[in-house]
Amino acid sequence: MANYHIASSILSANFAKLGEEISNVIDSGADIIHFDVMDNHYVPNLTIGPLVCEAIRPLTNAIIDVHLMVEPVDRIVPDFAKAGANIISFHPEASRHIDRTIGLIKEQGCKAGLVFNPATPLHYLDHVLDKLDLVLIMSVNPGFGGQKFILEALNKLKTVRKRIDAGSKKILLEIDGGVKVDNIAEIARSGADTFVAGSAIFSAGRDNDLHRYDTVVAALRAELAKV
Ligand code: DX5
Ligand code: ZN
Repeated sequence: MANYHIASSILSANFAKLGEEISNVIDSGADIIHFDVMDNHYVPNLTIGPLVCEAIRPLTNAIIDVHLMVEPVDRIVPDFAKAGANIISFHPEASRHIDRTIGLIKEQGCKAGLVFNPATPLHYLDHVLDKLDLVLIMSVNPGFGGQKFILEALNKLKTVRKRIDAGSKKILLEIDGGVKVDNIAEIARSGADTFVAGSAIFSAGRDNDLHRYDTVVAALRAELAKV
């Protein structure tokens, strides 16, 4: 079985209890914190920034996977690196100089990811794939949690999986948007190894009084074990 990662998107967490939510979701078996940064400019929503990243960093040793939905990208990269981000991913449309932004993220000591919206062509991978640590395929349009999975993303995953496997570099292939217990196995079969889950975990999955997420994370992992 491949080494699968569950990246819990804290966008659907209870922000009034964010620290507790993060500790609980990691204790429940998720292994990455997916941190959605929205600027009310590149996407029509406004969320959290480096200050929040810095505040949650001491709470967990888990990877913090920062998904930047901001334009421009470069100015904010060092702030997230200082705030303890491990992976920083950005959208090619939001950066004037994609190769430079990748270099900047790495100079800052983080792993670099490139994100593809549902209609963004994969040619942006052409000259930079071997510089990336992660490719993120969006299976919803960015901006909100709780949207429906766009099936075309499965074809994109298959194409990117082939491209990654044709090289020798270890590159994570992450999927983001509408991942649920009932579709995660098919998504894994299409080539993803890292699964962002927001509403599936935080909205639907809270184990009533304990505020833990063991049941839903175990259900996601059980589906992955069948692949
Ligand atoms: C959407 C975000 C996602 C979102 C996923 O722009 O990038 O990470 O939180 O939420 P769900 O899992 O609810 O689709
Ligand atoms: Zn995201």
